[in-house]
Amino acid sequence: MLLKLILWFVHFKLATSAIDFRFNGFKGVNLSLDGSAVLTYNGLLMLTDLNKQLKGHGFYPTSLGLGNLFSFSTTFVFAIVPEYPGMGCCGFAFTLSPSKDFSHAFPTKYMGLFNSTSDENPSNHVLAIEFDTAMNPEVRDLNANHVGIDINGLVSIRSITAGFTSDDNGEQMNLNLISGNPMQVWIDYDGMDMQLNVTLAPLWQPRPSLSLLSSTINLSSVFLDDMYVGFSASTGGVGSQHIILGWSLKVDGRAHDLNLASLPSLQQSLTSSKKKPLALLSGLPLAVAVLVLIVAFSVMFIVMRKRKFSEESLEDWELDFEPHRFSYRQLFKATKGFKDENLLGIGGFGKVYRGVLPSSRIEVAVKRVSHDSRQGMREFVAEIVSLGKLRHRNLVQLLGYCRRKGELLIVYEYMPNGSLDKLLFYEGEPTLNWDQRFQVIKGVANGLQYLHEDWEQIVIHRDVKASNVLLDSDMNGRLGDFGLARLYSHGGAPQTTNVVGTPGYFAPELIRTHKSTTNSDVYAFGAFLLEVACGRRPLEPKKEANQQVLLDWVLSNWNRGTILETRDPKLGEDYVVDELELVLKLGLICSHTLPTARPSMRQVTQILHGDLPLPDLPIPHFSSSDSSAFIETECFSAYALSFPSMSSESSLFSGR
Ligand SMILES: *[C@@H]1O[C@H](CO)[C@@H](O)[C@H](O)[C@H]1NC(C)=O
Ligand SMILES: *[C@@H]1O[C@H](CO)[C@@H](O)[C@H](O)[C@H]1NC(C)=O
Ligand SMILES: *[C@@H]1O[C@H](CO)[C@@H](O)[C@H](O)[C@H]1NC(C)=O
Ligand SMILES: *[C@@H]1O[C@H](CO)[C@@H](O)[C@H](O)[C@H]1NC(C)=O
Repeated sequence: MLLKLILWFVHFKLATSAIDFRFNGFKGVNLSLDGSAVLTYNGLLMLTDLNKQLKGHGFYPTSLGLGNLFSFSTTFVFAIVPEYPGMGCCGFAFTLSPSKDFSHAFPTKYMGLFNSTSDENPSNHVLAIEFDTAMNPEVRDLNANHVGIDINGLVSIRSITAGFTSDDNGEQMNLNLISGNPMQVWIDYDGMDMQLNVTLAPLWQPRPSLSLLSSTINLSSVFLDDMYVGFSASTGGVGSQHIILGWSLKVDGRAHDLNLASLPSLQQSLTSSKKKPLALLSGLPLAVAVLVLIVAFSVMFIVMRKRKFSEESLEDWELDFEPHRFSYRQLFKATKGFKDENLLGIGGFGKVYRGVLPSSRIEVAVKRVSHDSRQGMREFVAEIVSLGKLRHRNLVQLLGYCRRKGELLIVYEYMPNGSLDKLLFYEGEPTLNWDQRFQVIKGVANGLQYLHEDWEQIVIHRDVKASNVLLDSDMNGRLGDFGLARLYSHGGAPQTTNVVGTPGYFAPELIRTHKSTTNSDVYAFGAFLLEVACGRRPLEPKKEANQQVLLDWVLSNWNRGTILETRDPKLGEDYVVDELELVLKLGLICSHTLPTARPSMRQVTQILHGDLPLPDLPIPHFSSSDSSAFIETECFSAYALSFPSMSSESSLFSGR
């Protein structure tokens, strides 16, 4: 008995270790295709084209061969491009089946999987996750845009309108399957808990934490020893292109992430069919002359292009990061050659360009950071890649990088509403109302808490300030450039000092210790709170002497009981007194001279959400920037300071 169990286990392990693949596009991939399915020249799996009454299948050629108790995980990217906008038929299904032979199956509502007699037959042993774009009352379809779990037939055991639950606000967002836009799907089945989860999201969006469908199903009677896996699609009275762009699957483990940046382009394959044939040339001598010229120009063109797009070749250590690597050519194309009209801004670390990735038509921001030394590059890239794993609704998502001679290009998600400082400080710009500001503050606090406390490593931002806060399409605040300040100091930076950051946001102890901590981030966050509430920068040398240092000015107003008078005049009377007062006082507390007197970011978010009262400090005596005052504090007592003299910072950071 024991021996049998061991043998079974060995067999099981041997068999399962085999299937683990990742196709970032299907160029050169061996798939079993039938019906209308083709691989396009650039590596798309096109299951059907726009013709009517088609069925097409693309399957992994070998069986999963597993016995009937197992787990699998898969992710793929698909797009459905209908014949007419909003009008297409019929959908496709991710399928596990004991056979790759679907010759008896019908198109249209049968999705190329069953026929009128085989539908609902328990001997089918088919699991299908359908992405159905036609409403069929006979099989009790919910609507013409749903995702369903089908076992042995077309009547779904569970189905739901296509969409996802936003991690931002918990709202259910619908997605239109036949929009033509690429979307990503994750399907996981755990044979032990018998949990089947299906999750859907627009391409480039991180996997939503809530699944669209989550079902407990005992599939052990459905799965046979040999099961094949793949996709089936069909068209009906109207056609649709059903396209799979990339696919990753693993048995008994988590599927590898797809490298979204290297998926084949949807656009090219769709327009290629429209290319007109070249008109025939008449006259042989002319043809030869033209040919010679064409060859000469092509060679020149290729040589120049090669030079233009030259990037550092892939080194061994980089192989692990390959999924996050963009080619220079891709980024060059995306930003139309880094044209000035695509310039979004010039940040602390370099120029930032707006771009649209050629393959997926996704908008990105590309930051060019000059990086002279080869030394430290590996570390730099490793950190960038690890920062790319940070996923939070209040952080700007880092998508990948490209390494080129003397510079590094970092690719971020594009934020349509720009940076917060523009809306706060620039004359003539529409400003934010109080509700929007409070929303942004809470968002940034959440993002910073995630960096400090909720991720697997502690990430210190080092440069929290309004100009590093970007606004997404819903005006949520998102922190950008996290961790970069330190990365930048690894090498190649113009000033290679450990002290990076921005004057005015700079915790006083940093001047002495040169060591950033979560506490120094909290200090900068305090300065940021005051910026948002007061609508001005932390240091404004042109102001009257008592107002130049924002922190000191707000503090002296707190002492006098007039703290609300420091608010941004542009707010008018449109603000919530309690919230404004909370933000101003919290700003002062966060910017306490003594690092240990500052709250943690977790406490800050709790205070902002009203779950924790403001610390009951005596009106604190501290200075924004006076380092001698700081040393005094540290050596003697927290509250025994004399009121700060004007800052010594201007001399420390002269020439700012
Ligand atoms: C594709 O895979 C199948 C199954 O492993 C194999 O029989 C076939 O020869 C392969 N075809 C190519 C072109 O490699
Ligand atoms: C349906 O498919 C089965 C095989 O799965 C086949 O034996 C049967 O003849 C088909 N029925 C029709 C009506 O085509
Ligand atoms: C499916 O989702 C549930 C609830 O989110 C989770 O507890 C479970 O681990 C998931 N199962 C798999 C196989 O991903
Ligand atoms: C799942 O189904 C199989 C076969 O029908 C059965 O033997 C097994 O006990 C079921 N498992 C559970 C946990 O119900």
